[in-house]
Amino acid sequence: MSKTVLLATEKPFSASARNEVVAIIEQAGYKPVVLESYKGKAPLIEALASADAAIIRSDIFDAEVLGAAPNLKLVVRAGAGYDNIDVATAKAKNIAVMNTPGQNANAVAELVFGMMIYQARGKFNGKTGSEIRGKTIGLHAFGAVGRAVAAIAKGFAMPVVAFDPFVKPEAFQQAGVEAVSSVEELYRRSNFVSLHVPATAETKNSIGKKLLSLLPQGGTLINTARKEVINEAELLEQFEARKDFRYLSDIAPTDATAATIKEKYADKVYFTPVKMGAQTEEANVNAGLAAARQIVGFFERGEKQFVVNK
Ligand code: 3PG
Repeated sequence: MSKTVLLATEKPFSASARNEVVAIIEQAGYKPVVLESYKGKAPLIEALASADAAIIRSDIFDAEVLGAAPNLKLVVRAGAGYDNIDVATAKAKNIAVMNTPGQNANAVAELVFGMMIYQARGKFNGKTGSEIRGKTIGLHAFGAVGRAVAAIAKGFAMPVVAFDPFVKPEAFQQAGVEAVSSVEELYRRSNFVSLHVPATAETKNSIGKKLLSLLPQGGTLINTARKEVINEAELLEQFEARKDFRYLSDIAPTDATAATIKEKYADKVYFTPVKMGAQTEEANVNAGLAAARQIVGFFERGEKQFVVNK
C-alpha cells in the first residue's frame, strides 16, 4: 500500500517550497497530506492517524502526538533543532527522528547581521550610530549556523572567536576562527555574542548573569537559538545592573519577561514579531526538499544518515 507523508507546518513554508516538497513525495509514489497554519494539537493528531512519515518544523511532537500515530515510522524535522520532538518516546515506539542540519543555516546567520546592524544604527532612527567593523563577535557553539556567521563576519572585518567543546581544533583553524578555551573567555572578549547552542537539558537556563556580566561595555547578546537557553530572571537582572547591555532575538522570552523588557529597556532590545531565522525562500526550499528526499531515501534505500535517535 502506498505510504502517506504528512507535511505539518504550523508556520508554513513558502508556497513554492511546499509545492516542491509535495512533488517529491508524489514522484516517489507516496500520498502527500498538507496541514498548514493549524492551531492546537487536534488537527495534527487527526492527520497523524494515517501518516507513515511526517515533515515538521518547530511543531510539537510530544508523547501525546506520537501516541496518536499508529503507522508513523519517521519524523523529519526540516531544520536543525529537534527539541520540539520527544525523541525518547519516538525511539521507544520505533519511530526514527531526523533533522536536516545546515539547510537553513545561512538564513539564520544573515538575520544575526540584520539585527546587529539594525541595533547598531539606532533602529534606523537617523541619529549617529555605530559600525560593526572591528568589533569582536563571539560564537557560542560552532555548528552549521556558527560557521555561517563566522564566514559573513569576515566580510565585515570582525574578529571572530568561538567556544564549542564538541568541535575539533582543526574545524576552527579551517574556518580561520580563534577557539577560546572557556565559555567565560568568550563572553569576556566579545562585543557581540551570538548564541547557537541547541536546547538540551544541559543548556536550558544556562545563559544568565554569570556569563552576561562578563561582557565588555556595550556588550550585546544575539539569540537566534532557543529562548529556553536563557535564564530569564537573570536576564532581567542583567538589564538592571548593566545599562549598556543589549539583547537581540528572533525568539522573544516568555510574554511576561518580554513585556517587562520592552517597557523598561525598549531602546536596548529588539525582538522580531515571530521566530523567523529560517524564514527565507531559500531556507524553506533547502530544508523542505532535504526532508522530503530523506524520507524517500529512508523508505526506498534504508538511509539513516540523519537519524538523531539511533
Ligand atoms: C531550526 O532549528 O532549524 C531553526 O530554529 C528554525 O526553526 P523553524 O523551522 O521553526 O523556523
